[in-house]
Amino acid sequence: MDKKILLEMKHITKRFQGVTALDKVSFNAYEGEILALCGENGAGKSTLMKILSGSYPETSYEGEIYINGEKCHFMDPAQSEKMGIGMIYQEISMHLDMTVAENLFIGRWPMKGRQVDWKKMNAKAKEYLDLVGLDIEPDDILRRLGASQQQLVSIARALSKDLKILVLDEPTSPLTQKESKILFQILQSLKERGIACILITHKMDEVFQNADRVTVLRDGKSVASYLLEETDEKRIVADMVGREITNFYPKEKVPISGPIMEVKDFSVPHPSIPDRKIIDNVSFTLHKGEILGIAGLVGAGRSELVNAIFGKEPKLSGKVYINGREVQIKSPFDAMKHGMALLTEERKKDGIISGMSIRENITLPLLKMVSQRGVLNFKKERELSGKYFESLNVKAPGTDTLVGQLSGGNQQKVVLGKWIAREPQILILDEPTRGIDVGAKYEIYKIIVDLARQGKGVIMISSELPELLSMADRIMVISDQKIRGTLSAEEATQQKVMELSALSGNNIA
Ligand SMILES: Nc1ncnc2c1ncn2[C@@H]1O[C@H](COP(=O)(O)OP(=O)(O)OP(=O)(O)O)[C@@H](O)[C@H]1O
Ligand SMILES: [Mg+2]
Repeated sequence: MDKKILLEMKHITKRFQGVTALDKVSFNAYEGEILALCGENGAGKSTLMKILSGSYPETSYEGEIYINGEKCHFMDPAQSEKMGIGMIYQEISMHLDMTVAENLFIGRWPMKGRQVDWKKMNAKAKEYLDLVGLDIEPDDILRRLGASQQQLVSIARALSKDLKILVLDEPTSPLTQKESKILFQILQSLKERGIACILITHKMDEVFQNADRVTVLRDGKSVASYLLEETDEKRIVADMVGREITNFYPKEKVPISGPIMEVKDFSVPHPSIPDRKIIDNVSFTLHKGEILGIAGLVGAGRSELVNAIFGKEPKLSGKVYINGREVQIKSPFDAMKHGMALLTEERKKDGIISGMSIRENITLPLLKMVSQRGVLNFKKERELSGKYFESLNVKAPGTDTLVGQLSGGNQQKVVLGKWIAREPQILILDEPTRGIDVGAKYEIYKIIVDLARQGKGVIMISSELPELLSMADRIMVISDQKIRGTLSAEEATQQKVMELSALSGNNIA
């Protein structure tokens, strides 16, 4: 490759109490490339990029950073931004109640005398919005925009600062397929302008469709870098996990018997459009030993449906029968009482308490189980949390580690452990493997299969079709308020699921 080296990170070592997150990592990025950064949960990807962005000051790690051959000393994010480094985090880090233009130019609003020059600011904002193909007004309030639009605004903001390197940490998690496509088109155009885009992702198809090069971290070490045309998925996965993986899906046929849960005539209000339903009169049955997949486009109402069943969000109508008996579920507490568990999509928001230990987080929903006569049974607590800590392969020094100190994917494993530890009869999983590396995905699938084998019922919402096609016994497709079809594992194909996902009330004869 005859492209110019833009970024050199040399011999970076970063330690947290008890953990060496990065061990003499050297990392380069070239001008005008899309570079994928891959590795298992806890490998050190986010930490490496936080060092680049100045979130960790120069005094907190060993090693050197050069941009265009010039040595950098970043003590905070502002200094790294000045050198042309932009970061797009998974969580939006902007001011939701300010306008788009205010967000774009925060801290450097154009002035006319002692007043902000709104006209100039809005005009400049429009230019950058055009660059990322956003057809919105500069004075729109950020909160009113969708997740993908907000993300594009943060890219526009990075562009407005003479961007050289754009880092995106798992950027497509909140995006629909269509939105992801737009994002990657923008990255292609940034690349043509000489910008280096560093993409952290667990999705291999994203890597192969968009990146020019890939660098793999394992256990805080840089283990390989390839041009994409010189490698394949098997190689990269083997580098990530340190061994070859041949079977990604440990699906097992287990006997499926009578209904464990029946959902009847469920209607759910639309979360943001008044007087509209997002789910209209949906009924289905979950059987003992069954893994029921729910497919559909992001925003089709899959999460709203299961949240309403679980009593977490309001419903307009609907009944739930468990083992043939109608149950009243008015709150998540009621649902748990009837043996249901729900792993939500928004784990960060309602899944974990980051100031508590792994042990406390796992045993939190089962205090009743571990305590005797109201006294916490620490031995039992330790045993239980230890069991799931091991089986989910959480990367941390021990179960006393605070959850806030874990990598993103490892936090998700803890949330999952917390629900499985309750030994629910009915386990509902909303995007259970999002942000989870290949090795850990396998462990999660094994746990799901285990539950099925014990005769429990599992509902799995997923936007990753290969996962649904391989793991589910039946796939129910939701689109435009209704179930548009239910396919058995034998008849389901990617094509059929996608066709049903695109159906609406209008195009059905
Ligand atoms: N603030 C912190 N305090 C203590 N340890 C930390 C802290 N932040 C990260 N670590 C540890 O450093 C290691 C690397 O974490 P990092 O977040 O960089 O992983 P990652 O590759 O981004 O993983 P994921 O794919 O799960 O997001 C992990 O073992 C993590 O537990
Ligand atoms: Mg991370």
